[in-house]
Amino acid sequence: MPAKDFSEGRRVYFDHNATTRARDEVIDAMLPFLGDKFGNASSLHFFGQEARIAVELARTRVAGLIGAEQEEIIFTAGGTESDNLAIRGAVLNSRMNGGKAHVVTSSIEHPAVINTCRALEESGTEVTWLPSDSDGMVSVSDLEEAIRDDTTLVSIMLANNETGVIQPVKELAEVARSRGVLFHVDAVQGTGKVPVDVDQLGVDMLTLSAHKFYGPKGIGALYIRRGVLLPPILTGGHQEMGMRPGTENVPAIVGFGEACRISLERLSSEMGHIGNLRDLIEKGILDHVPDVSINGGNAPRVPNTCNVTVTSVEGEALTLNLSMLGFALSSGSACATGSDDPSHVLLAMGIDNVDAQGALRISLGVENTRNDVDLFLSVFPGVVKRLRQMSPLRKDIL
Ligand SMILES: Cc1ncc(COP(=O)(O)O)c(C=O)c1O
Repeated sequence: MPAKDFSEGRRVYFDHNATTRARDEVIDAMLPFLGDKFGNASSLHFFGQEARIAVELARTRVAGLIGAEQEEIIFTAGGTESDNLAIRGAVLNSRMNGGKAHVVTSSIEHPAVINTCRALEESGTEVTWLPSDSDGMVSVSDLEEAIRDDTTLVSIMLANNETGVIQPVKELAEVARSRGVLFHVDAVQGTGKVPVDVDQLGVDMLTLSAHKFYGPKGIGALYIRRGVLLPPILTGGHQEMGMRPGTENVPAIVGFGEACRISLERLSSEMGHIGNLRDLIEKGILDHVPDVSINGGNAPRVPNTCNVTVTSVEGEALTLNLSMLGFALSSGSACATGSDDPSHVLLAMGIDNVDAQGALRISLGVENTRNDVDLFLSVFPGVVKRLRQMSPLRKDIL
C-alpha cells in the first residue's frame, strides 16, 4: 500500500468511545439556552416556563430513544453519576428497609461501576464479581449461580467501552427478574450504536451519557422503571422528581434531547456505514500486520469498535506515534489513560500482561470516511514495524 499524504493537515478522529463531537444540530439547539433563554426550569415565571418546556421535551426524546416513559427519565451529570445513583441507591434502599445488600457485577465493567462497587465493599456490602470468557462475554449460568437470597442488585453493562462486546443483557436480566432481583445496565456505550429498548431488555434501570453519541458532555440520565423505589444519593432541592437535586443544566439537557432525536432517526443508516468502515480497518490490519489479533472479534459487538492486540509493542507508543501522524485513537481504555496498568478488561479475558499492553482501541464515528480508513491503513503497518524493531516487549528477547 503506498503511503498517503495528509492534505490540509487533516486530522482523523478514531476515539469516539472516549467522546464524540456534538452534532451541529445539537449545538444549534443548545445555543439559545446559553443566551437569552437562561431561565431556571423551576421558576414559575415565563423565563422558567420556557426552560421547563425545553427540559420536558428533551425528557420525551431521551425516553423515546430507549422505549421508556417520560417520567421514568432522571437527568444527571453523566454516566458516572447515573451508575452511582443506580448502584448506591439500590443498596441504600435495601439497607433502609432492614435488608442486606449483596450486589452482583462483572470484572469488565467501566470504572464508574467497578469503583462504586469497591467503595460499597469497603463499607460492608458484599459484591460478587462475575468473570469474562476469552471473547469478553459474561455468562448467564455464572449469574444464575451468583444470585443469593440477599442479592439486591445485578449491574452488568450493555457494550464494553474497550472491546465493544455486547453482553447478553436480555438473558441476564431475565435471570435477575425470575429471582426478584433488580437489574441495572450501564448502556453508555450501547446507546446510539445499537437499538436499545428497556422493555425488550427487561431491565429496571439503565444508564445513558450524551457525550458518547454526539451530545454534550456532563449530561446523562438514569432510566428508572416505574414502581422501582430508589432514594436519591445527593441531598438538596426537589428537582428531577426528588431524585436528583440541583438546578437542571438546561442547555446540556436540550442538547442531549436533540442527540437522542437524531440518533433514533439515523441509527441504522449511520451504523451501517460505520460498521463497514470498521470491518475494512480490521481486514486491512489483519492482512498487512503480522501477529495481531482482534479482541472480542468472535463475540457480538457494537459496529464502531475495534480492539486490536499488536504483539511486541506498547499501545501507548503506538498511540503517540499515530497521534504525530494525525490519528487520534486510544491505547486500551481511554478512562485508564494516565495509568500504565494494562487494561482490566483484557486481563479478565485472559490476555497476558505483555499483550494487554499492546492493545489499541479504534472507535469510529459518523464523520469518518473511507478515506480516513485508507489513510490509516497506509501508515499503520509501517509504524508497527518500526516500533517492533526497537521494542523492549519483544517476546523473543524477553
Ligand atoms: C461504559 C461506560 N460507563 C460509564 C462511563 C462514564 O460516563 P461519563 O463520562 O458520562 O461519566 C463511560 C465513559 O467512558 C463508559 O464508557
